[in-house]
Amino acid sequence: MNISKLERNNLDMSTPKIAVIGLGYVGLPLAHLFATKYMVYGFDIDATRISELQQGTDKTLEIDSLKLKKVLVQNPGEQAGLYCTNKLEDIASCNYYIITVPTPVDEANKPILTHLFKSSQAVGKVLKKGDVVIFESTVYPGATEEECVPLLEKSSGLRYNIDFYVGYSPERINPGDKEHTVEKILKVTSGSTPESAKLVDRLYASVIKAGTHLAPSIKVAEAAKVIENAQRDINIAFVNELAKIFNLMDIDTHAVLEAAGTKWNFLPFKPGLVGGHCIGVDPYYLAKKAQEFGYHPEIILTGRRMNDGMGTYVASEVVKLMVQNDIKVKGSKILVLGITFKENCPDVRNTKAVDVINNLKSYGTKVTVFDPWASPTEVKHEYDMQTTKTQPNDKYDAIVLTVAHKEFLQISLREMLTTNGVLYDVKGILRERVDRRL
Ligand SMILES: NC(=O)c1ccc[n+]([C@@H]2O[C@H](COP(=O)([O-])OP(=O)(O)OC[C@H]3O[C@@H](n4cnc5c(N)ncnc54)[C@H](O)[C@@H]3O)[C@@H](O)[C@H]2O)c1
Repeated sequence: MNISKLERNNLDMSTPKIAVIGLGYVGLPLAHLFATKYMVYGFDIDATRISELQQGTDKTLEIDSLKLKKVLVQNPGEQAGLYCTNKLEDIASCNYYIITVPTPVDEANKPILTHLFKSSQAVGKVLKKGDVVIFESTVYPGATEEECVPLLEKSSGLRYNIDFYVGYSPERINPGDKEHTVEKILKVTSGSTPESAKLVDRLYASVIKAGTHLAPSIKVAEAAKVIENAQRDINIAFVNELAKIFNLMDIDTHAVLEAAGTKWNFLPFKPGLVGGHCIGVDPYYLAKKAQEFGYHPEIILTGRRMNDGMGTYVASEVVKLMVQNDIKVKGSKILVLGITFKENCPDVRNTKAVDVINNLKSYGTKVTVFDPWASPTEVKHEYDMQTTKTQPNDKYDAIVLTVAHKEFLQISLREMLTTNGVLYDVKGILRERVDRRL
């Protein structure tokens, strides 16, 4: 294999032309970072998202308007900048295509690869000799080479590792986290040949301040990403189990964890609801592939079961407290604080707060959901549920804090409770006396 051939084609690092496909929580921050140094084409099939971005508005709140406007260009040229488009022909002159589309699971927790397949077919249509396609979406080991490469070949008519090359560099972004931003997180890279791997690594190393780790193969890089989240999931499942045990014993789990955490090698995990599109989803990708090889994962799926059942558990704990306080559960008023999948972030996809709400409603309670971050329109669309961004002015028989948004720390929650009302804290963040925390 000859590096000069690859580089001769169009991979001169002084002028990489990059297309980022899928401008969501992962794609936009990445496109923005590359655009501080290179000409970047941000491509998304969502015309509304493109028009909002062109105006300098990022509804995911990952990149603020000022920062975004600084890199936006109205006409793409040779200079560094970000040009957002939903027209495939606009990205035809690029030589690096980075795919950052969603990889969720369906109702039965089976991986949905449709977005990945469609974007691979689309990129195939504009692929040229010497181009490199890099996948960032979280997948199971083998998905890039076994599923996406054949689609790229078919749609482009080009030959893999002869005419075009592929890389995999998993994203480790943490939505809502303004400290660990994309350039500050070390990035794993890989490529389909030793030469293309070096090119992929050099491309990322040119913008990622924290550096890169070149993995020996695409499969290793894919597996590394999926186990990062599976490991977190299993550890959280363990502390969720501890919470259930200690609740039976009337011992405060957070106090136990604080005491145990004084040992240097005790891992700092907290109990909670595991939602979102990474930790609660990626283990299913690994499990699916393991099953194809005839191995039925035990620990991974047990962890998933434990974490997926926490919404039901929280609701039953709240109802138990209400009954103990002589509150008539049917018809009672409950305020749920937070519906996003994590704190200080507007993302409501795959949020497990919804499980708490639905379970509370199943007891015949009247639930009000207050979330200053979530878009009521989006929640209505995703879950057919009403939420408010404005703090309600009412009294409740129970208040359940499900998400640790900073705004909730400013509210005198006890004043919003009826005489016997109960306060339940899923996140263990409330300073005032709570009746119970998870
Ligand atoms: N959000 C995270 O915390 C996070 C962290 C690390 C890795 N990941 C992984 O990164 C990937 C992307 O996640 P995300 O959260 O950014 O998703 P997202 O839903 O926020 O954004 C995806 C974007 O892709 C667009 N899109 C969908 N299909 C497309 C297509 N065929 N062509 C072009 N655009 C298309 C959508 O319109 C959307 O704007 C997933 O695989 C996810 O698992 C996510």
